[in-house]
Formats: sequence, structure tokens, C-alpha cells
Amino acid sequence: MTTHLLVTGAAGFIGSQYVRTLLGPGGPPDVVVTALDALTYAGNPDNLAAVRGHPRYRFERGDICDAALVDRVMAGQDQVVHLAAESHVDRSLLDASVFVRTNVHGTQTLLDAATRHGVASFVQVSTDEVYGSLEHGSWTEDEPLRPNSPYSASKASGDLLALAHHVSHGLDVRVTRCSNNYGPRQFPEKLIPRFITLLMDGHRVPLYGDGLNVREWLHVDDHVRGIEAVRTRGRAGRVYNIGGGATLSNKELVGLLLEAAGADWGSVEYVEDRKGHDRRYAVDSTRIQRELGFAPAVDLADGLAATVAWYHKHRSWWEPLVPAGSLPA
Ligand SMILES: NC(=O)c1ccc[n+]([C@@H]2O[C@H](COP(=O)([O-])OP(=O)(O)OC[C@H]3O[C@@H](n4cnc5c(N)ncnc54)[C@H](O)[C@@H]3O)[C@@H](O)[C@H]2O)c1
Repeated sequence: MTTHLLVTGAAGFIGSQYVRTLLGPGGPPDVVVTALDALTYAGNPDNLAAVRGHPRYRFERGDICDAALVDRVMAGQDQVVHLAAESHVDRSLLDASVFVRTNVHGTQTLLDAATRHGVASFVQVSTDEVYGSLEHGSWTEDEPLRPNSPYSASKASGDLLALAHHVSHGLDVRVTRCSNNYGPRQFPEKLIPRFITLLMDGHRVPLYGDGLNVREWLHVDDHVRGIEAVRTRGRAGRVYNIGGGATLSNKELVGLLLEAAGADWGSVEYVEDRKGHDRRYAVDSTRIQRELGFAPAVDLADGLAATVAWYHKHRSWWEPLVPAGSLPA
């Protein structure tokens, strides 16, 4: 039976990987994808070039806050995977308003339309950052939400609205909370692609604070597999952490990137810490492993090497994005 699937944020880093995977070799043969994206600075039509013209694909340019457009696009959809978001923490510290607009109001607009149109399931793609920072151990899905940045607060609000729609309206909502992603086609303002591209051109890289903030890194291919497991086998009203990648400090990560670039610590400049910078994230992924049989497959060393190689080979993809995406110094 054919499934009509609406994917929001489909032209971004993770959304485009998800759509390319769905419509690529080995993808489900019965899914018809509508890709919805506003093409903000982070959305790139080139990310979807590989599926353009595919018989089970159509692209719709539009804003998830536009209720009339969302209502029109939602008609006839069976499922939604919602990835559209403002996603960069540093930008949220400069101006949070667009984060609230897209991540809260946009999510609510989608949820309302999904409820109205009787959509069978809605996957809210979220982040481990909603839990805040923790000293020891790892977060389970039952952890209270203690977001510390405007970005994570807006994502947490979206999650709560989504779960409320499940309770209030019976909408089958499933929430995923993933750790930091890396891989090809990540906008070059994020740590890994920013550092790779700066080092490629012989620039120094800025490392926040003492560099001891700890993050768990998951390859985007693994995240996409996790989202697909939740879309196809997840349960209504349930939250699924997606982690299980490699946990390391920013300093350790930078060490790996320096090594890949053939550079040394002379290329690193310690800069003032990010405001409210969470010290440590770590998710407990037992639930998705046990219930859905998901485990990450990409080894960090292999995944990083392939990512570095991708940015070397695709200068024409990222170079035009650097001036537009650069944050004020
Ligand atoms: N990148 C990570 O490490 C990570 C980790 C966990 C969760 N997530 C979540 O995954 C999702 C995708 O993240 P990403 O890294 O691919 O982000 P991204 O910034 O690369 O892509 C976001 C996409 O959303 C689109 N968009 C933004 N505002 C929109 C609007 N108002 N209407 C329609 N489209 C709009 C953009 O054009 C872009 O294509 C986000 O919800 C993010 O919170 C990301």
C-alpha cells in the first residue's frame, strides 16, 4: 500500500539525507515523498538534486508557519516526518525570535493541520539538547527537560506541543531526540564542517572555552536509520533517544580533525566560551535499541575520514555558503 509522506526541512542537512535514502536503492518501494522546505539560508536545493525527477518525489517550497500552505500540502498525506527548524545554537543567542517562530509556531501549525487531516503518524525530529547539561550518566527519555539555549528551549517547546497533540487530539506523535550529527552536506557554520573547511584553507579554528565540553557524535546515516525505525515501527506518544555514537570532548574531536588535515595545535585559537554552553550531553539509547532494534553502524574514525574527504571533493558546494553563513566575529 502506498504511503504519502510529508518531509519538512527536506533541503537541509539531515532532511535531504533522509529523502535521498528513502528514494535511493534499498529504500521502501511504496513511499511517495512530498518535500517541504522554505529554503532559508540553511536549505539547499542541490542537496535534493539526486532525487529531482524521481516518480515518487515532489518538492514544495513553503514556510511551515504559513497555515494555508501547510493545510494544502497536508491534504492527502498519511505520515509526517518533521525536520524543518532553525538549528544553529549560536544564531539563537543573537536572535531567538525566528527560532520561536519556526520551531514552536511552525511545529504547532503542522500539528494542527495533521490533526485536521487525520494523518496516521507524525514524527517530531528533536535533539538531546532539550535535556540540558548533565555531569554524570546519561539521559533516558523520562528525564525532565531543562533546555539552556533559545534553540533547545524552542525545540523542547515543539516536543511538548507534539506530545500534547497526542494526548489532546489522539494524533499518533513520536518524538526522536538525537545527539550531535556529522556527515556530508552539513552547513559550514556547524563545528565539524566549519573546522574542516577552515583547516583546508590554512586558517586557524576557534575552540570555545577550555574545549572540555563533551558531545556524542552520530553519523547522519545512522540518524536517518533511527528516524526510519521510529517512522515504521515506533509507538504513538513515545519518545526515542537516538545516540550510541562516539562520546568525546571538543578538544579530542579537534585533535582528530587536526590530524586529518595534517595540522597541529598551532592552528587552534581558544576563544571566549559560548553563553550558557552546556558542559556535557549523553543519551541513553536503550529504548530504541531494545524496542526497535536500532544501533548505530558508522564508526567515528571512518565517518570522519569520509566527511573530510567529502568537503575536500565538494568545495563548490560549501564555498559559496561561507560568506552568507558566517556569523559576525
Ligand atoms: N544537526 C544536528 O546535529 C541535529 C541533532 C539532533 C536533532 N537535529 C534536528 O534535526 C532537524 C534537522 O536538522 P539539520 O541539521 O538538518 O538542520 P538544517 O539547518 O541543516 O536544515 C533545516 C532545514 O529546515 C528548513 N527550514 C527552516 N525554517 C523553515 C520554515 N519556517 N519552513 C520550512 N522549512 C524551514 C531550512 O530551509 C533547512 O532546509 C532539526 O529539527 C534539528 O533540530 C539536528
